[in-house]
Amino acid sequence: MKIQHPQMSSILFLHFLLSIFCIAQGALTYNVIKFAAKPDGITDATQAFLKAWTSGCTAMEASTIYVPKGRYLLKAVEFRGPCKNPIKVQIDGTLIAAMDYWALGNSGYWILFIQVNRLAVIGAGSIDAKGAGFWACRKSGQNCPVGARSITFNWVNDAQISGLTSINSQLMHLVINSCNNVRVSNVKIIAPDLSPNTDGIHVQSSTGVTITNTLIKTGDDCISIGPGTIIYGWKEYNAGRDMESGSLGRSYNEKGVQNVTLINSVFSGSDNGIRIKTWARPSTGFVTNINYRNIVMKNVENPIIIDQNYCPNNEGCPSETSGIKINQVTYENIQGTSATQVAMAFDCSPTNPCSGIKLKDIKLTYLKSEKAQSFCNNIGGTVGGLILPDNCL
Ligand SMILES: *[C@@H]1O[C@H](CO)[C@@H](O)[C@H](O)[C@H]1NC(C)=O
Repeated sequence: MKIQHPQMSSILFLHFLLSIFCIAQGALTYNVIKFAAKPDGITDATQAFLKAWTSGCTAMEASTIYVPKGRYLLKAVEFRGPCKNPIKVQIDGTLIAAMDYWALGNSGYWILFIQVNRLAVIGAGSIDAKGAGFWACRKSGQNCPVGARSITFNWVNDAQISGLTSINSQLMHLVINSCNNVRVSNVKIIAPDLSPNTDGIHVQSSTGVTITNTLIKTGDDCISIGPGTIIYGWKEYNAGRDMESGSLGRSYNEKGVQNVTLINSVFSGSDNGIRIKTWARPSTGFVTNINYRNIVMKNVENPIIIDQNYCPNNEGCPSETSGIKINQVTYENIQGTSATQVAMAFDCSPTNPCSGIKLKDIKLTYLKSEKAQSFCNNIGGTVGGLILPDNCL
């Protein structure tokens, strides 16, 4: 019997053409469902995601790892490169961590991309680390794991992260460490005001990082910047106390942070808005060419802050000063409200004063009855436009 149907064969031919077209477009797609991930939020999908990653990473064409709508339970997972070709992870579903915060272990990360070049992590999906249990553990002083950052890029070059929402990380939401050329855009980061150390985006030892159109509402810093070696958990150097992660100048031999641009973003209700923080200790690190532009602050406690005399509990550094040189930092069109009276604080190193600091069109208000204030120590630079609180440069 002859099965061939003229219409059928033309459909098949069309399908064939489309496949060729898709491959030519670099659209090899590895759907995690095909690797047995269950979108039920209960079944551990970690191995399925890893298998999809390995297929994409070793593919002879550019590829996409696709995570369709649904909820996927993930343990700590390491997506390791180098990959043969550009790789995209498109997340339209929700990645969730287990309610039991011990499930993320003591590695310091939840979702880690390591040594990958030409990476895109995009989509309309969310990443929910379910950090509340971990925060409560720390608060109670019980025995807790070190905690995990939600998404970490370690040694990742030419990358993009876009469209996603990160909710309730245990520690920092997004860490960009030792990377070159990373673009972050249209990302939302959300955690309660009182969640400890849930920094939004932390950039360290990296060059060429551009962050645009972000909305950040967290418990700690919105965007923090520094050179420095990666610090994994909160216990490592401040056991039992409120930890301060991501500070520069903890180790002496550090790389710098260079060419970071943050534009068009809104920060709401956090402890610190745009912060550069370095330990009051000798260091070889530097921070240079940082540009903040068009930022709205909504009731942020320290909207603009440089703190180079950071030495928690005066331990290990009480008579020292920061060796990190901060140079060429521009703040332009930063507007909104401060939740504390000092809206702008620059506390730079007496041995390495901040230089080339530019302020232009700053309007930060405190309460109607009391004016916001600024604070300057060991800083040089220029101003332009209206500056409120009064310029102290
Ligand atoms: C940093 O930016 C400057 C000015 O745009 C550029 O000349 C320099 O090459 C960049 N540095 C790196 C390490 O990419």
